[in-house]
Amino acid sequence: MPSYVETAAAIARESGALISEYLKRHIGFELKGEFDLVTEADKASERLIIERLHASFPDHSVVAEEGGGQDRASEYRWYVDPLDGTTNFAHGFPFFNVTLALERAGELVAGVIFDPVRNEMFTAERGSGSYLNGQRIRVSKTSRIENSLVSTGFPSRKRHQNVNIHFFYQLSMLSHGARRPGAAALDLAYVACGRTDIFWEFSLNPWDVAAGVLLVREAGGACSDMHGRELDLRGPHILADNGLLHQSTLDLFAEIFARKYRFQLPEMQPF
Ligand code: IPD
Ligand code: CA
Ligand code: CA
Repeated sequence: MPSYVETAAAIARESGALISEYLKRHIGFELKGEFDLVTEADKASERLIIERLHASFPDHSVVAEEGGGQDRASEYRWYVDPLDGTTNFAHGFPFFNVTLALERAGELVAGVIFDPVRNEMFTAERGSGSYLNGQRIRVSKTSRIENSLVSTGFPSRKRHQNVNIHFFYQLSMLSHGARRPGAAALDLAYVACGRTDIFWEFSLNPWDVAAGVLLVREAGGACSDMHGRELDLRGPHILADNGLLHQSTLDLFAEIFARKYRFQLPEMQPF
């Protein structure tokens, strides 16, 4: 019998092929909120994933972004983001993914993140490490923020209330560079395989981060909230990094939360 992670990877691959077909057709989008996009691909991908999960695990609960999941009296719960990076997808910007994660009695046990553009399948199982296309991956060994490459994101809901620009600016000045790729699950997968060193973001949902958190931890990294407290998948923010950078990033974040900025925004000049 295939393992949970094998079943999830097969479903994510099938779903990735489906959204790639939609990408070729240049479909349009609808708005869920003022800047919150959803496409036919999100919905079709979710229908496929839910059908497949139900066929394999009829008793498991499913929490899915587009609302197609079902709560059942089970200790097993799947988190599903049928298309993470919808804004990118809708514009043809090739950075998005399909992600599924399984929790058992509140503990993450399996997670997959599939990037159909690069054919990259990230997988993790609790206690068994993290893998990219079957090869073991590990977080980077970078030990100073000054030598790091970092990434973050900005929410589409209530974005005028988001304070992340302060963090983005300080990290942009202090590190080799700050990226804002637009797909939180892949941002986490990139920390897990050492392509980036630090990721943080406000206002994400469990389906955005569940698989990525397991990947980062199983690859030797650390995840908490941005104050260093135990991570709550429903919490207001997340910090994930290679572990070596965790304390120095928390110290920097504490300064920024206290409005002590190491770098001031330059005055506007008449160029
Ligand atoms: C979004 C992406 C993005 C993040 C947003 C998420 P969606 O997910 O992960 O990187 O900045 O906050 O909502 O809506 O494309 O699945
Ligand atoms: Ca998402
Ligand atoms: Ca989504």
